[in-house]
Amino acid sequence: MSDAPASAPPIRYPPGIAGKRRKPWLRKQDRLRRTLREIVAYVPAHGAEVVDLWVASWARTLPEIDFEARRPWIADRLAAAGDKGVAVRVAFSEVGEAMGFVMIDPATGWLDQIAVHPAFWGAGIAEALIDAARRISPARIGLDVNADNPRAVAFYRRQGFAVTGEGRNPRSGLPTLVLEWRPVGAVAPSPGP
Ligand SMILES: CC(C)(COP(=O)(O)OP(=O)(O)OC[C@H]1O[C@@H](n2cnc3c(N)ncnc32)[C@H](O)[C@@H]1OP(=O)(O)O)[C@@H](O)C(=O)NCCC(=O)NCCS
Repeated sequence: MSDAPASAPPIRYPPGIAGKRRKPWLRKQDRLRRTLREIVAYVPAHGAEVVDLWVASWARTLPEIDFEARRPWIADRLAAAGDKGVAVRVAFSEVGEAMGFVMIDPATGWLDQIAVHPAFWGAGIAEALIDAARRISPARIGLDVNADNPRAVAFYRRQGFAVTGEGRNPRSGLPTLVLEWRPVGAVAPSPGP
C-alpha cells in the first residue's frame, strides 16, 4: 500500500523538461487551432459548439451573470434564425473548432449576436466575422452593446462603428450604447419630416 498522503503536493518540473516531451505534431495542432480556416453558414449540427462558445465568451465578459442558465435562450435563437431570415455565420479553425459566430438580419442590418471563444480573442476572428456581416448587410450594421463591455466597445470603434444612441438591456437592465456602421462616404438617411 502507498503511504503517500491523500493531498499530495503538485509535481513540478524544471522549465523545458515537460515541453521537450511534447510531440511535434501536437505543437503543430496548437498552431493550427489558432488559424481561421473558413466562415460558413450555420447549420443545426454546429449548434452545441456555437452555444458552448457563446457561453464561454459571455462568462468571461460578464462573470457576474449566469450565462450557463441562458443556454436554452441562445439555442432557441439560433434554431429560429433561419425561419426569420436572420443570417448566421460560423468561423472554424484549421482543426475544425468553432471559433466564433455572428448573427445578422439582412433586411435591417441589425447585428443580434457576435461572439468569439476567449481562446481566440485578439486573433482577428471577430474582424473576419464583422467583414462577413458587412457582406451580408453592406449598407448598414446596427447593434446594441453593454456600455460596460469595454473590449467590445473598443473592437467596434476600431471597426468604424459610431455611437448613435443609448438604451438599456431588456433582460439585465444594464445601460447600453446603440452603435452603427455605414460604409465610408455613405450618408445616414434623414429621419424625415
Ligand atoms: C467582442 C468580441 C467579439 C471581440 O473579439 P476580440 O477578438 O476580443 O476583439 P479584438 O481583440 O480584435 O479587439 C478587442 C479590442 O479591445 C481592446 N481591449 C481589450 N480589453 C479592453 C478593455 N478592458 N478596455 C478597452 N479596450 C480593451 C483590445 O486591446 C482590442 O483592441 P486593439 O485590437 O486595438 O488592441 C469578443 O471579445 C467576444 O466574444 N466578447 C464576448 C461577447 C461580446 O461581448 N459580444 C459583443 C456584444 S455586442
